[in-house]
Amino acid sequence: MKAAPVGTATTGGIAVIKVDLTSISDFVSQEALDAMAPRVAEAHQTLEAGTGAGNDFLGWRELPANYDKEEFARIKKAAAKIQSDSEALVVIGIGGSYLGARAVIDLIQSPNYNLKKKNTPDIFFAGNTLSTDAVLEVLGLVGDRDFSVNVISKSGTTTEPAVAFRIFKAALEQKYGKEEARGRIYATTDAHKGALKGLADAEGYEEFVVPDNVGGRYSVLTAVGLLPIAVAGIDIDELMAGAADAMTAFSADKSMANPVRKYVAARNCLYESGKKVELLACFEPAFRFMSEWWKQLYGESEGKEGKGLFPASVEFTADLHSMGQYIQEGERLMFETVVRYDKPHGQLVIGEDADNVDGLNFLAGKDLHFVCEQAMRGTRLAHVDGGVPNILIETDTISARSTGELIYFFELACGVSGYVLGVNPFNQPGVEAYKKNMFALLDKPGYADLRADLLKRLGDR
Ligand code: PA5
Repeated sequence: MKAAPVGTATTGGIAVIKVDLTSISDFVSQEALDAMAPRVAEAHQTLEAGTGAGNDFLGWRELPANYDKEEFARIKKAAAKIQSDSEALVVIGIGGSYLGARAVIDLIQSPNYNLKKKNTPDIFFAGNTLSTDAVLEVLGLVGDRDFSVNVISKSGTTTEPAVAFRIFKAALEQKYGKEEARGRIYATTDAHKGALKGLADAEGYEEFVVPDNVGGRYSVLTAVGLLPIAVAGIDIDELMAGAADAMTAFSADKSMANPVRKYVAARNCLYESGKKVELLACFEPAFRFMSEWWKQLYGESEGKEGKGLFPASVEFTADLHSMGQYIQEGERLMFETVVRYDKPHGQLVIGEDADNVDGLNFLAGKDLHFVCEQAMRGTRLAHVDGGVPNILIETDTISARSTGELIYFFELACGVSGYVLGVNPFNQPGVEAYKKNMFALLDKPGYADLRADLLKRLGDR
């Protein structure tokens, strides 16, 4: 087979992410961290050498430098076409075929992206649910506007996106007729196999590839994430360049000063000391879906064989008024990882009020970001006092570049951490259990015995 042309992102290889472990020192001794260091180094080396479990799914590691240049150019071209002929794009996918794109679009363009005045299409996500109300809502929101569909499924057989695609394909065909509908469907799937690949070939949809050696939850920097992200007007060259910076910096540094190694060592020491939950926290509401992406990445990669940190997330300061009570005083089973962004994109200075009825004049003249920073510092100290160790991940202002870097940081740390834990971080055998039961209950051919057993257990006749 002809090798795909590759591209290399222009990058200085300088990463800005820093990991600060000061606020775990009351809970994890330097001796424990020192003892963990060789295990982390070995896991990192195993990942780099490609000799560990799941090593046929390591394509994501070099993706920021070795991506398919021809396909990358086609992604940009397709994005420009969608921007010119569509007022809305429906992105159909679930899990790793959904969360990365949504996370990046929300973070960089805002969770309110669809409400904004802009010259790029609204983006709606479907195929991540079997809820009738949710699908009807997206159909209604698209309404009679011009739209396109990007259906994404590596296996090409996942039920949720397959069902949604039937529905939106029918809507497209009804609106435009079969021929024009074909030109508005973009399929991102396996290069060789699966029902979606067969359908795309037969119908002549424009196709993009999920590389064989990249698993769903590590695929945001492939066409899976890049096409919807580009349609939303985000600079995908910058996203890749940020990831390339991280790749260069975090592969080169074999010391425990490497932020990836620090994070992995800290979370595994905390896990082994009895902290079973990792709470990812951020003071930026736009980060919510980055947390959802991170939860899938870590939950599916590490949660197996009766092991693994439970990944959870909170959005501060909002959740300080809901989960804050539990974090401060509930079961002492968690630690917190705070992602801190550098400067916001603008400035808001709090004004003076002559009457000062709200008693807020002590904040007059202060920047809102300064207030938020003090909330973060105060929260971290309070949680540490309450028995919740705190890892701090610091990065640059929110941008395509810093997002690319953060994505790569978390992916690499996840692979290394999975090896420290002693699991295969690149499979997800547990996801099959619900699917088998659902197929049996839906009377899919081949599931008769399981169906009989389940119906008996459910008390159905
Ligand atoms: O990380 C994974 O592999 C999963 O979350 C998949 O992305 C998810 O199950 C969707 O699979 P597919 O892309 O095959 O439809």
